[in-house]
Amino acid sequence: MAQLSSKVALVTGGARGIGRGIAVALAEAGADIAIADVEQISSPTQQYGTTAVGGFTAVQTTVAEISNLGRRAIAIQADVSRKDDVQRMVEETVRQLGSLDILVCNAGVVSFSTVEAMTEDAWDLTFAVNVKGIFLSCQAAIPVMKTGGGGCIINVASVAGKTGQPGMAHYCASKFAVVGFTNSLAKELAADNIRVNAICPGIVRTQMWEYLADKRKEQGESKEESWQRAIKTRIPLGRPQTPEDMGQLSVYLATAENVTGQAINVDGGIEFH
Ligand SMILES: NC(=O)c1ccc[n+]([C@@H]2O[C@H](COP(=O)([O-])OP(=O)(O)OC[C@H]3O[C@@H](n4cnc5c(N)ncnc54)[C@H](O)[C@@H]3O)[C@@H](O)[C@H]2O)c1
Repeated sequence: MAQLSSKVALVTGGARGIGRGIAVALAEAGADIAIADVEQISSPTQQYGTTAVGGFTAVQTTVAEISNLGRRAIAIQADVSRKDDVQRMVEETVRQLGSLDILVCNAGVVSFSTVEAMTEDAWDLTFAVNVKGIFLSCQAAIPVMKTGGGGCIINVASVAGKTGQPGMAHYCASKFAVVGFTNSLAKELAADNIRVNAICPGIVRTQMWEYLADKRKEQGESKEESWQRAIKTRIPLGRPQTPEDMGQLSVYLATAENVTGQAINVDGGIEFH
């Protein structure tokens, strides 16, 4: 029998990128999947130069991919920074799939700016999605998991939650916050048999890194050269990480009964703590 059969997982920001990799891996391991994503961010600030994050356009492709694996899959339009949306997202998951055993808080945004030039909106949006979104999602899921006798929460942090980087102080601060939140919540919920861990991806070529490679170009460099430089200079193993790598660790965490409170790097050796 598949490791996660009869389990239900909810993956935020799961339409594409790392979230998609995690959703598909959990489905391959037997779980039914709810994907929550959003099309438009309700903020005057932009992500990737536009308020349209576009996740919900991609969601049906991912839902179809999971259905083809023989698992149940549903899509829910929800902005994780909005409490009403998050409450509805959890209620819909339970109503349509019957329970909630694994919550993956993956939705996140990035922007690139020095602190001196940073707008207040850029700071606020980063924290609204990356930190408050995780708080709201966990808060909504906890009563359901307690009723079910336990559960597993996986928060997607980053290597940027372990060491600071220039041009990304708001993003790094948000990911350090995710690591601290994860460790605290793990201790808070251990007695309820709810395990809480974080994944810290290194460099994955998603839409997020397409944007970053462009923003981090040095003088005369193309986006592709900027990407290759990031891989060569920052990753000891010399190769990028993949959404599938994050899926592999998620399946492990979903089944690792004695692992909680950890923030695990999947980064080719960038970080060692
Ligand atoms: N790509 C990397 O190298 C990398 C490295 C470390 C950490 N991360 C983290 O991994 C996670 C996924 O990033 P990715 O690289 O796949 O990016 P991505 O932009 O490709 O995917 C992010 C997904 O989140 C969705 N989303 C954005 N804001 C949302 C909101 N308010 N509510 C619901 N959904 C929302 C988007 O629509 C999209 O589907 C993020 O938390 C990111 O910070 C990424």
